Amino acid sequence: MPAITATAPGKIILLGEHAVVYGQPAIAVPLTQLRARAAVTADPRAPSGQVLLDAPSVGISAELASLPADQPLAAAIRLLLAHLRLNRIPACTIRITSTIPVSAGLGSGAAVTVALLRALSTFLGQKLTPETLNTLAYEIEKLHHGTPSGIDNTVITYATPVYFVRGQSLETFTVKTPLHLLIADTGAPASTAKAVADVRQGWQADPEGFEQRFAEIGALVVQARRLIENGQPGQLGELMDRNHALLRELGVSSPALDQLTAAARLAGAWGAKLSGGGQGGNLICLVPPDLQEAISATLLQAGAVRTYQTILK
Ligand code: PMV
Repeated sequence: MPAITATAPGKIILLGEHAVVYGQPAIAVPLTQLRARAAVTADPRAPSGQVLLDAPSVGISAELASLPADQPLAAAIRLLLAHLRLNRIPACTIRITSTIPVSAGLGSGAAVTVALLRALSTFLGQKLTPETLNTLAYEIEKLHHGTPSGIDNTVITYATPVYFVRGQSLETFTVKTPLHLLIADTGAPASTAKAVADVRQGWQADPEGFEQRFAEIGALVVQARRLIENGQPGQLGELMDRNHALLRELGVSSPALDQLTAAARLAGAWGAKLSGGGQGGNLICLVPPDLQEAISATLLQAGAVRTYQTILK
């Protein structure tokens, strides 16, 4: 029997991370050249109910029954079975692979969850609606860090640019002039859970100062959406620079992120900021199309371990 497969893209946050956890809007876009993939194959000779999980990139090759409750892949499978009210399913092997770097702010956790839920529900003959898929993926996001805004699972489930406000339904927008985005990896692994916890601590110590910055970030996002819809990418860059400065004040930048964003601007980027949880991981630059290659080379020279180029249309 052929495998049932499904995929899900990576994602990158253009503006608004962290403040989005506190109710401000954020903009995120899918990164379709990076993908997580899940393949489910029936094992007709294995005892009914046996589920083998094979996820080499996270070092897992085990029976579902032996995996702990808080292991995100195992939790996603159990959540799906509970949702479908199934106690026992036909024996199968689930293989998970992904080209999305982990712990880099590119949504690898959410993408793997979405691909897995999609493939397994299809294998079981009960394909999920995008709404249900998104709701279940959000539950698993909570295992990665306790208070996720839901932006990762939403942009990845729908694979479309989103203007996201926590708890509100999906809102997308049009891009008048294509945006050339250059993403650069600092090579420093980053824990979103730690960054989110650090911001929470800062907010508890200085609620007024942090809320003021969250609100300013939210206002930048509203303005950015207007510029994207009106086709004014040059001005969008300034908003990204300001967003980076505010994220630094929230304590989620790093020397490498500061250096690389500065190098990108110096090389001609319209704007540059950290993206995602921060304290490492990736930065995102908005670049003039003719300078994309040159800025990428500058960033690699300045210490970035890899770059990705994508066009938001
Ligand atoms: O590190 P990432 O790409 O998963 O992004 C997290 C974005 C935050 O705003 C920091 C957290 C969240 O849940 O929205």
